[in-house]
Amino acid sequence: MAQKNLIAWDVSAEDYPADGSLDEKIKFLLKYAILAPSGPNTQPWKYRIQDGQVALMADFSRALPDVEPSNRTMYMSLGCALTNLLIAGEHFEMGYRVKHFPDGVEGEKIAEISFQEGGRMRQFPDLFDFITERHTNRGVYDDRPIEAEKIQTLKEAVDGGVFRLDVLTDPEGRAQMAEILGQSHRIQLGNKAFRKDLARWIRPNTADAWDGLPGYAFGYSDFESYLGQFIFGTFDTSTSRARKEMGLMKASPAVGVMSSQKEDKMTWVQAGMEFEKLFLTATRLGVRFDLFSQPVAIEELRREMAQALNVKYPQILIRMGYAPPAKHTPRRLVDMVLVE
Ligand SMILES: Cc1cc2nc3c(=O)[nH]c(=O)nc-3n(C[C@H](O)[C@H](O)[C@H](O)COP(=O)(O)O)c2cc1C
Repeated sequence: MAQKNLIAWDVSAEDYPADGSLDEKIKFLLKYAILAPSGPNTQPWKYRIQDGQVALMADFSRALPDVEPSNRTMYMSLGCALTNLLIAGEHFEMGYRVKHFPDGVEGEKIAEISFQEGGRMRQFPDLFDFITERHTNRGVYDDRPIEAEKIQTLKEAVDGGVFRLDVLTDPEGRAQMAEILGQSHRIQLGNKAFRKDLARWIRPNTADAWDGLPGYAFGYSDFESYLGQFIFGTFDTSTSRARKEMGLMKASPAVGVMSSQKEDKMTWVQAGMEFEKLFLTATRLGVRFDLFSQPVAIEELRREMAQALNVKYPQILIRMGYAPPAKHTPRRLVDMVLVE
């Protein structure tokens, strides 16, 4: 892999320190946690390893106050990282116990995980091999449906107690979600403070930053990506962006909405955990995901989504379909996210 900021993706299970100390093993597991998705690749996590325990902490300096004051996406992203960590732990036959929010829900500690050697936990399906393959795919999807059995498998990947996945394959349902997505772009991208906050995370294709979104993730050429941050932060591009993304959504074979029965910080972390399980399952099935949190962040649009699907709290909107794999985005290395 040529780009230095992509080397995190080169992790190999063969390098697991089988003869190392427990803390060395936990540090290796973190190589999988840090590959989790996060909106917009802020990687809002810090970790502390001590005596067989690892603390997963929110890095509030990576929040986007003008994009999402509630930090809902941030908590979901931390939940995604936790799922990767536990799936990796299970793969290497580690037992674990998870204590959520040990200092209360306002604290920065999202979870404290104690690992023990030789456990045989099976809380998750074996999705380990798909952690390094998973990626967000913003490309055009093939004009072919997703098989009914695969859609069923995706629905079953989400824990049916608190969470639920609805999948719309009919043109009217997809068009309705596309319309809601378009409205969210027009409302949010029309807002200068929102654009400035988001623009901080948009990068030229060749930038050596370890986080954020390179223009190539949106299909921009190197040249376009140099102008991208300036144009995005300075001008209102909401109409063209809305038109493009609505078109992609209408033309995709399926649109999903993951929703929950509850709405609080703990539910957001769990929503992230369920969502990452779903995303890895989709990767196993060869189904690509493109993600949208914008409509969920606007109360009236979220209500519209909830009513259309007869659900309580939509958490994320997903475009689904088939496409060739896209290039990975940068990740900070474990040593960059470990704190004393
Ligand atoms: C909870 C959550 C919400 C997200 N929301 C959006 C979104 O609204 N728009 C978008 O383009 N990507 C969204 N993403 C995708 C991230 O931008 C993506 O995960 C990140 O850039 C890393 O890329 P990767 O998924 O290919 O590893 C979201 C991801 C997560 C986990």
